[in-house]
Amino acid sequence: MKQMALIHTVINLLLMVHGDVSSSSSAVGDPEMKRDGLRVAFEAWNFCNEVGLEAPHMGSPRAADCFDVSTSGYSLAHKVSDSDNNLGIGKSKQGVISEAALHNPDLYAVEKELYLGSLCQVSDEPNPWSFWMVMLKNGNYDTKSGLCPQNGRKIPPFDQPGKFPCFGTGCMNQPVLNHGKTQLLSDGYTMRGWFNGTYDVDADGVSYYEVVWEKRVGVGGWVFKHKLKTSSKYPWLMLYLRADATKGFSGGYHYDTRGMLKTLPESPKFKVRLTVDIKQGGGPKSQFYLLDIGSCWKNNGEPCDGDVTTDVTRYSEMIINPETELWCNPKTLHNCPPYHTFRNGTRVHRTDSQRFPYEAYHVYCAPGNAEHLELPVGTCDPFSNPQAQEILQLLPHPVWGEYGYPTRRGDGWVGDPRTWELDVGALSSRLYFYQDPGTTPARRIWTSVDVGTEIYKDEGAVAEWHLSDFNVLIT
Ligand SMILES: *[C@@H]1O[C@H](CO)[C@@H](O)[C@H](O)[C@H]1NC(C)=O
Ligand SMILES: *[C@@H]1O[C@H](CO)[C@@H](O)[C@H](O)[C@H]1NC(C)=O
Repeated sequence: MKQMALIHTVINLLLMVHGDVSSSSSAVGDPEMKRDGLRVAFEAWNFCNEVGLEAPHMGSPRAADCFDVSTSGYSLAHKVSDSDNNLGIGKSKQGVISEAALHNPDLYAVEKELYLGSLCQVSDEPNPWSFWMVMLKNGNYDTKSGLCPQNGRKIPPFDQPGKFPCFGTGCMNQPVLNHGKTQLLSDGYTMRGWFNGTYDVDADGVSYYEVVWEKRVGVGGWVFKHKLKTSSKYPWLMLYLRADATKGFSGGYHYDTRGMLKTLPESPKFKVRLTVDIKQGGGPKSQFYLLDIGSCWKNNGEPCDGDVTTDVTRYSEMIINPETELWCNPKTLHNCPPYHTFRNGTRVHRTDSQRFPYEAYHVYCAPGNAEHLELPVGTCDPFSNPQAQEILQLLPHPVWGEYGYPTRRGDGWVGDPRTWELDVGALSSRLYFYQDPGTTPARRIWTSVDVGTEIYKDEGAVAEWHLSDFNVLIT
């Protein structure tokens, strides 16, 4: 027994040393998802990234599953109780929920997330970190609800039949959330936990989401297995696993958040490594993001400060569904960024139909509050973020090959699982983003790095994928 204990100690020492080496260049708290003591949380957003109204008996749509594995034997010591996860409006908690948040579902979720983050927090250099974030979003928008601002400005309810999916009053509801706390299975070494549920609160199992995480103690890394199914009432759903900033604003969210990025990656000096195994694509409308990066800066290049009328969320995404339509082409220049920059720095304008790589872009849309846009231009949806947004969506194409991104439609798709090492930093430093003329270029610091799918208005579509080995490396 003594010898066993000694061997254990040596192994632990080796693991600790190894852990230090790999974490020195990693921006995430849990490089490659290898840490036995998992930290994972759940958040659900309505159309404009708020709560709006809590689902009955579900509490505030924030939850966490965090535990350490005991060193003596194999048992899991959980850090978040059921009553923590059940916190919701009307439930007070001393020193956690403020008076202002007690009956305000949006603010309550923010304070609950910070609290869950504190329970899960792991000390580390240069910053403590809290958890991977499972993000679920319902794309329904009831324009008569008055719930969403327009480019960050409050607007009264309005009528706009047909433009946004919504079956009627209550279509922006939060989902049912079931949680299987991580357990050690009876084989003695497999750890497994899950979140699942539906938006169809009255008819169970019509729309569906599920994330199951699994790992063997001391071996390999966590595998996150995702499923997402849309329904006729909920045709537009999003499910991502996010590495968010550990403090400050993460992409698309104007409140202080908690997350996994203990160092914020800045273009051009970072890479992202991940393994993605897509089992079911989710139909032609499934915008599967091999990677989505999100940040926020103002049109004058200044960092965001929480003023939603001038802050602008910036996203760039590589969509790998080969059925994705080519919205940017020589006849639809408003869907293309004004120019493309090759790796060697050469810029090609979108009107240069001989040299511009149209097929490398799905769509570009500009911030609705930008004042010096090059025409023709499409502006982004003004309602689906708490502030204006700018989005640049990429498709597999030879021009991205130098950055380790897929070059052909179908690469990495169903039946073609791959481990990617993406030079996201170099690529994102060359992407077009709008800025006011004559202003200093914004520092491109990314506050969230996500993987998952957005099924954009399709009924009964099913997507299923596994994600593992996720890491963000500072180079
Ligand atoms: C959630 O997962 C559990 C365990 O696998 C399962 O029993 C339950 O039916 C699932 N919930 C829904 C809504 O399908
Ligand atoms: C830069 O790369 C592009 C695309 O490969 C090429 O057409 C162009 O000639 C290159 N420019 C220079 C200056 O090397």
